[in-house]
Amino acid sequence: MDSDIFTLRKPEATDGFALHKLVERCSPLDPNSVYCNLLHCSHFAETGIAAVNADGEVVGFISGYRPPERQDTLFVWQVAVDARCRGQKLGQRMLLALTERLAPVGVQYIETTITPGNVASETLFARVFAALSAPVERSVLFSREEHFDGQHDDEMLYRAGPFKLAKPNS
Ligand SMILES: CC(C)(COP(=O)(O)OP(=O)(O)OC[C@H]1O[C@@H](n2cnc3c(N)ncnc32)[C@H](O)[C@@H]1OP(=O)(O)O)[C@@H](O)C(=O)NCCC(=O)NCCS
Repeated sequence: MDSDIFTLRKPEATDGFALHKLVERCSPLDPNSVYCNLLHCSHFAETGIAAVNADGEVVGFISGYRPPERQDTLFVWQVAVDARCRGQKLGQRMLLALTERLAPVGVQYIETTITPGNVASETLFARVFAALSAPVERSVLFSREEHFDGQHDDEMLYRAGPFKLAKPNS
């Protein structure tokens, strides 16, 4: 699929159901309720981004928010790219575009959690942090034993910044 045909734009409430279906087919992401995805596309639209193909289908999405006590930070909740559209730096382009949109309102840091072993996610964020010349700190945010009752792998927190704006490398 030609990457030029993707439109990157702010989410709209009517994207919520499509986001729900996209996340559902993007293992290993945890699916959320449709209602939660509707909130991502409405209350949290300022800190999200959708990638839409030529047919108007939502094929990529980043959901996020600014933690109330840290307005200089974008916390990236989920990144999803439809399997048909992977490997075209769409994930990278969405995150850089979102960062560019939020820098003027004071966002200088990106945080996310990654489950150890999710190589695609680790590589995606490593490339974006490098493109932004952002130093990175790593710590355990939610631990398997303390927070997940042994039912889920640790969630590692990556905090990167302050960043410098850069253009996508493709
Ligand atoms: C992770 C995901 C969003 C990446 O989307 P994408 O558009 O294919 O990613 P990009 O093309 O921007 O790739 C960014 C970098 O990661 C690398 N990468 C992507 N998928 C990879 C994989 N499966 N294994 C190793 N490296 C991978 C790319 O090669 C690229 O590095 P490069 O610039 O050195 O070539 C997508 O695979 C996905 O939706 N996965 C399922 C859900 C998920 O795990 N989300 C992330 C957790 S929130």
